Amino acid sequence: MKILVINGPNLNMLGLREPDLYGRQDYAALVQYVGDCCKNMDVEHEIFQSNHEGEIVEKIQKAYKVFDGIVINAAAYTHTSVAILDALKAVSIPAVEVHLTDIALREQFRQLSYTGMYCEMTYKGLGFEGYKKAIEYLCEKYK
Ligand code: DQA
Repeated sequence: MKILVINGPNLNMLGLREPDLYGRQDYAALVQYVGDCCKNMDVEHEIFQSNHEGEIVEKIQKAYKVFDGIVINAAAYTHTSVAILDALKAVSIPAVEVHLTDIALREQFRQLSYTGMYCEMTYKGLGFEGYKKAIEYLCEKYK
């Protein structure tokens, strides 16, 4: 089982970025956390972060026939990117959406999720633990 974890714009700013919302742990801590989860679940993984929509689209395209599952926190692109939704549909790899915060309890413009239209499951408002739940979900269903 090989999982691709994708993080979108500004997630590289964790720790500095609105800590009351996103917590005080930095992006390196998230990378470490995801790595530990995958090791414990005996899953191969790659973790990728980009602030650019096209790079995320290309990463998803290149995942075809390489990865068995995708965990995606598209960050702000969640709410705007038809291109990321179409890329997920194109490769047809099982995917789970993660958000550190509970987007359902936030602004109106965060209520629409394009990535969620493809993903089998969404974990939101659980902080880093959402990534663990998403990896567990993919393992239980596809490993
Ligand atoms: C986020 C929620 C998005 O609305 C926001 O734009 C982000 C992070 C989250 O993890 O809670 O950048 O995806």
